[in-house]
Amino acid sequence: MKKATFILLIVILLGASLFVGSGVYNIAATDKHWAITTELIEILKERSIEVRAEDIVVPDDLEDPARIASGAATYEEMCSVCHLAPGAKVTELHQGLYPQPPVLYKDFDEVPDNKDNFWVIKNGIKLTGMPAWGASHSDDEIWALLAFINQLSEMSAEEYRDLTATAENNKGH
Ligand code: HEC
Repeated sequence: MKKATFILLIVILLGASLFVGSGVYNIAATDKHWAITTELIEILKERSIEVRAEDIVVPDDLEDPARIASGAATYEEMCSVCHLAPGAKVTELHQGLYPQPPVLYKDFDEVPDNKDNFWVIKNGIKLTGMPAWGASHSDDEIWALLAFINQLSEMSAEEYRDLTATAENNKGH
């Protein structure tokens, strides 16, 4: 290694440790990233997910009403607190998180990427608050959730209420 390169490397390392050690970086959720940082994180996230989700085999019955209904109660219990629901109020958890959880009945892609979304629900996303549900749920339960959220954008508040309430009853609560 050339002497100049070596010195440059030492300066960068020293600078990085000074930056970290000084505490000057604001880790607060209220201090938003620069646009370029957000852009880089997005690309990193997308590629990371795509590569890992590539070989997932999507079941062909995601539009089956029984499948959709069976994801309803789980969504209401475990996801709506962050991702909200048709007809429901904005939650404090949704407001306070950074990155803010997408509102799945509004922000979800029109042509959802089932492989990527399955992977995300199963494995979670580091440093975002999105949990890994695969630790507590079978693949089958995760597909049911996905079948349900794929329908959310077309669901009225009433339909949402009916579906989640019926599912609750079926569970014997
Ligand atoms: C504690 C809050 C929280 C809970 C609870 C939660 N999520 Fe998330 N979820 C997030 C956040 C935050 C993101 C976005 C992360 C990001 O911007 O990269 C996310 C991302 C996602 C995405 C990717 C969406 C997209 O547009 O790429 C899906 C799908 C998803 N969540 C589904 C679910 C499901 C299904 C549940 C319930 C089983 C759930 N989430 C529960 C916080 C949560």
